[in-house]
Amino acid sequence: MSEDHIIVTRDGAVLEIRFNRPDKKNAITNAMYGIIADAVASTQTDDDIRVILFTSNGDFFSAGNDIKDFAAQSTGAFDGPRHVGRFLEEVINAEKPIVASVQGHAVGVGTTMLFQCDLVYVADHARLTVPFIDLGVVPENASSLTMVDRLGHTRAFALFGLGEPLMGKDAAAWGLANAALPAAEVEPRARAAAQTLAAKPPQSMRHTKKLMRDREALLARMREEGEIFAKRLQSPEAMQAFSAFLQRKA
Ligand code: COA
Repeated sequence: MSEDHIIVTRDGAVLEIRFNRPDKKNAITNAMYGIIADAVASTQTDDDIRVILFTSNGDFFSAGNDIKDFAAQSTGAFDGPRHVGRFLEEVINAEKPIVASVQGHAVGVGTTMLFQCDLVYVADHARLTVPFIDLGVVPENASSLTMVDRLGHTRAFALFGLGEPLMGKDAAAWGLANAALPAAEVEPRARAAAQTLAAKPPQSMRHTKKLMRDREALLARMREEGEIFAKRLQSPEAMQAFSAFLQRKA
């Protein structure tokens, strides 16, 4: 059940959104994007929620977009509304601070979403990757902007172009993460930080976050990437990459 793949709970004024599909490395399906988008959207009007915390179960933070969904979208077999765009927009638009607890590896959107968060705590062993080129697509989630801004062009290009992993320790040293910690300490630290934020004056917090981010530029880049991404999904390069992944154990 997709509802069980995302668990949304409250801890005081903190809304916790937990990836819970560990057998698939927390790969995100269309239905899961929909649930997350609804949860993040609800925080805009709910004064009782002051902070959003992303966390996950299992050894991966998230293996990114579900590749079966990508394959279905690339062949036109995918039916019904797509929620990924709404997920990306809601996270960029969120006025409440977002904290990420990254206890394990991340791939694709599992990595790029961290660049939209306000505080990030990562396991020091975690490998964060962005294999968009290997998949025949392009960066999403405004990551062609955020990763270059945060890491610098050549470091970002090594991740996108060479497919090198960003290790947890480097994520902290290079400005993506606030701290790289032993895996067991990541979630307690992230939850403590979220509770600290939740205790601060909420309107001042909201204004400060807004002043610190160029939301319009992020949305514009996200849409520009999205147009290219949608075309690339139907390219022979992408189709080959998806079927290679789906057939690799056959
Ligand atoms: N989409 C769909 N299923 C995925 C997935 C994804 N993004 N990532 C992992 N899974 C599934 C695997 O198919 C496998 O399912 P199965 O047990 O039914 O065969 C299960 O999760 C475990 O993955 P496995 O590959 O056996 O684990 P691993 O530790 O050897 O490798 C990854 C983990 C994440 C490195 C590897 O699965 C991978 O490369 N996944 C694709 C990541 C990706 O490209 N995401 C899209 C980014 S845009």
